[in-house]
Amino acid sequence: MHGIIHLELRKYVEARHGQTAWPKALAQAGIPATLEYVRVGDYPDGELTAIVAAVSRDTGAATEAILEDFGEFIAPDLMATYPRLIRPEWRTLDVLVNAEQTVHKVVRLRNPGARPPLLRCARTTPEEVVITYASPRRLCALARGIVSGIARHYGERVAITEPTCMHRGAEACTLVVRTEGPMA
Ligand code: HEM
Repeated sequence: MHGIIHLELRKYVEARHGQTAWPKALAQAGIPATLEYVRVGDYPDGELTAIVAAVSRDTGAATEAILEDFGEFIAPDLMATYPRLIRPEWRTLDVLVNAEQTVHKVVRLRNPGARPPLLRCARTTPEEVVITYASPRRLCALARGIVSGIARHYGERVAITEPTCMHRGAEACTLVVRTEGPMA
């Protein structure tokens, strides 16, 4: 997994659970506390899962809830890291519908180590985008969180449903995202 995700995970764990939570989570995950993740690095996917599992054990929050919250947390930073990929006139659904062709595809080209998931995104109505997500990492909770974070960034309310999910035996997860107007 691209170093940006691990760096963001550290930022997230420290922001939500305090400075000492990070070395504690690393120790519980069996990762040397001296390891400093760097942005250009590429790290085993298992480390992310192990750290999230450690935070889950420590806080009692479900791993899925942590991944979703983490996704919401990182969305603004992901968008800020690749500002040229996001057009100023875009809003939530425009970012989503372009997430594969304009964003992940370019991330893959620019960072040969990065393997963002292949997303299939279609605008089904002016208020709805359907995203098909398939990845051996099975991080649909993270994907849902990223969607919520993008919507928050634009001050838009969205409803997300997931009629099919890899965790329920499907080949891919389907995220149906509907905009419901501005945030209160
Ligand atoms: C908007 C700007 C976005 C940027 C700049 C971005 C960038 C990235 C990067 C750099 C990674 C790490 C890849 C790797 O570790 O190899 C990643 C992973 C990921 N992205 Fe995106 N992304 C964006 C939007 C989205 C959206 C809209 C979704 C889903 C709806 C999404 C879902 C994911 C997921 C689930 C992963 C984790 C890896 C996996 O599941 O295989 N991303 N993204």
